[in-house]
Amino acid sequence: MIVSLTANTTLDQSLFISRFVPNRTIRASRSLFSLGGKPTDASWILGEIGVPSLALGCAAGSTARRVEALLHRKGVTPDFIEVDGETRINTVIVVEEEGWQTTITTNTLEVQLHHRAALLARYAAALETASAVVLGGTLPKGLEPDFYVETIRMAKAKGIPVAFDAAEPNLSAGLSAQPDYIKPNRDELSDLLGRAIDTVEQAYAAGREVLERWGVSPIITLGGDGGLAVLPDRAYRIPPLPIQVVSPSGAGDGVLAGITHALAHRTPIEEGLRLGFACAAAVCLMPGTADCRREDVERLLPLVELHPYAP
Ligand SMILES: Nc1ncnc2c1ncn2[C@@H]1O[C@H](COP(=O)(O)OP(=O)(O)OP(=O)(O)O)[C@@H](O)[C@H]1O
Ligand SMILES: [Mg+2]
Repeated sequence: MIVSLTANTTLDQSLFISRFVPNRTIRASRSLFSLGGKPTDASWILGEIGVPSLALGCAAGSTARRVEALLHRKGVTPDFIEVDGETRINTVIVVEEEGWQTTITTNTLEVQLHHRAALLARYAAALETASAVVLGGTLPKGLEPDFYVETIRMAKAKGIPVAFDAAEPNLSAGLSAQPDYIKPNRDELSDLLGRAIDTVEQAYAAGREVLERWGVSPIITLGGDGGLAVLPDRAYRIPPLPIQVVSPSGAGDGVLAGITHALAHRTPIEEGLRLGFACAAAVCLMPGTADCRREDVERLLPLVELHPYAP
C-alpha cells in the first residue's frame, strides 16, 4: 500500500473572479472546495485513477472531517492524528479575465510533542506494509524541518522508496536523508540553490547540482514550460501538453503521484513520468486544486513525450 504523510493537512477553496478590484466587493462566479497539501493531493489523484493509498498526517476540527470525506470519495483511506487548532483552509483566487491566480495560505494547525510521537508511531506501523511513501509540504506550528529527516530515514531504513516534495527550509533538511526523488518547481529549486532559474539549461545545471550534492534525482516542473527529469545517467525534457488550462493548482502533485506510482510498483521511472505528466495536465483541466478525471488522464497519457536531454 502507498502511504502518504501530510503534516499540514489542507482544504483548498478556489474562487473564480473576472477581475481583482481593490476596495470593492468582488462576487465570485464560482467557488469550490477540493484538496490541498501535496501528499494528500497525490493520494487523491492516485485514488481517481484507481490506486488506493493510506493518508496519514495531522488534522483538526471540522475542516479535517471535510478533508477525510473528500479522500474517502476517491477510495483513499485517511488515518489522521487529531491535533490542536484547525486543518487549514487555503484560498486560491483565479482571476479569469487577466489569466493569473494566486494562493493565500494559512497556518492554523498546532502540533504538541505527544501528537508528534503519536504520528510517528502510526507512521512506523504503516511502514510495515508500505510499498512507497510520499511526503512533503509545509509544516504546522510545533514541527521543525528535522521531521522530514526522521520520517524519510525511517522509510529508507526499511528499504521503502520515498518521493519528497517541499520548499525551503524543509527541502534541504529532507534531502539530507536522501529520498529517491524530489519534485521541485522552479521557485523551490531556485530557493534551494540560491540562484535564479530562468531557462531549461539553468534548470538542468541546478538538477545536476542536486544530484552531486545530495545524491537525489530531481524531477523539476516548470509550469507551462513542462518538466525536466535529471537522473544519474540520463535526463528527459517533458514538453507541456497542448491543453486549455482552467487552473494549474496541484498540477505538480500530479507529477508527484506518477513518481510515487512508479516507486510503489517498481516500474521504470519513465512510466512514472508519463503517468505523472498526464495527471498534471489532467489537473490543469479542472477548476479545483489537484482535482482531475480518470478519462482525461487516460486520454492524455499517450501524448506525453520524454525527450532525451543533453545540455
Ligand atoms: N500552463 C500550463 N500549460 C501546460 N501544462 C502545464 C501548465 N502549468 C502546469 N503544467 C503542467 O503541470 C506540471 C506541474 O506544474 P507546476 O510546475 O506548476 O507544478 P507546481 O508548481 O509544483 O504546482 P503545485 O504546487 O500547484 O502542485 C508542469 O510541469 C506541466 O507539465
Ligand atoms: Mg508543487
